[in-house]
Amino acid sequence: MTMSAKLMVGNWKMHGSLSANAALVADVLAVMGQVQCRSALCVPSVYLGQMQSLLSCSPIALGAQDVSSHASGAYTGEVSADMLRDFAVRYCIVGHSERRQYHSETDIVVAIKAQRALAVGITPIVCVGESLAEREAGQTELVVKRQLAAVIQANGHCISEIVVAYEPVWAIGTGLTASPQQAQQVHAVLRAQLRAATAHADRVAILYGGSMNAANAQDLLAQPDVDGGLIGGASLKAVDFLSMLKAASR
Ligand code: 13P
Repeated sequence: MTMSAKLMVGNWKMHGSLSANAALVADVLAVMGQVQCRSALCVPSVYLGQMQSLLSCSPIALGAQDVSSHASGAYTGEVSADMLRDFAVRYCIVGHSERRQYHSETDIVVAIKAQRALAVGITPIVCVGESLAEREAGQTELVVKRQLAAVIQANGHCISEIVVAYEPVWAIGTGLTASPQQAQQVHAVLRAQLRAATAHADRVAILYGGSMNAANAQDLLAQPDVDGGLIGGASLKAVDFLSMLKAASR
């Protein structure tokens, strides 16, 4: 269990527009006074400039959804860690299952992306998680440990500076949520793996993600090794996102 405040991160994925973003952020910021947890919004990179100004002087940190594994160069369409830092990005998701699945990101590529972020002072939110077939085959621990091991190996003593997100693939966008016990079980495995790698493992926030919503957030967040949430769909509705931020403030 970490001693610091819970961390609640919205992942907008490929949703939003200039007008929708402004409206959503205005609704959320209007009631942030009642929120005590830490929070961040990971937005599509084209909106980083807009969001940097909307979130400046607010308690919500700015996050990106991906970063290039390359530092700079002829990589059309890619966005580097230095570019993210130009927009005061504090967090960057790496290795989301949608990137692993649709963009063939390997454990090694994810580990290098985490390294790129750390090198410029951005906290990588490293996503791990098993598919339904892997869970049914009893491979959950094996898979998440393999995914995290690559990041630990590539990042050495910096590993205490990352955030980990356990996102079971079968729970993402499906309405199926891991039970609080299922989540805690995997989070404890990840914590033990971090403890073996660093004396500061208790500093690492381990977030749960996968159909987290206003109704189930509190029970998930009550688990000793669930330090926050990574929230997709429910972060796009101000009322839902706020009620989860409040649940994390208790
Ligand atoms: P949902 O909350 O929409 O299931 O998405 C979870 C997720 O993938 C967050 O990164």
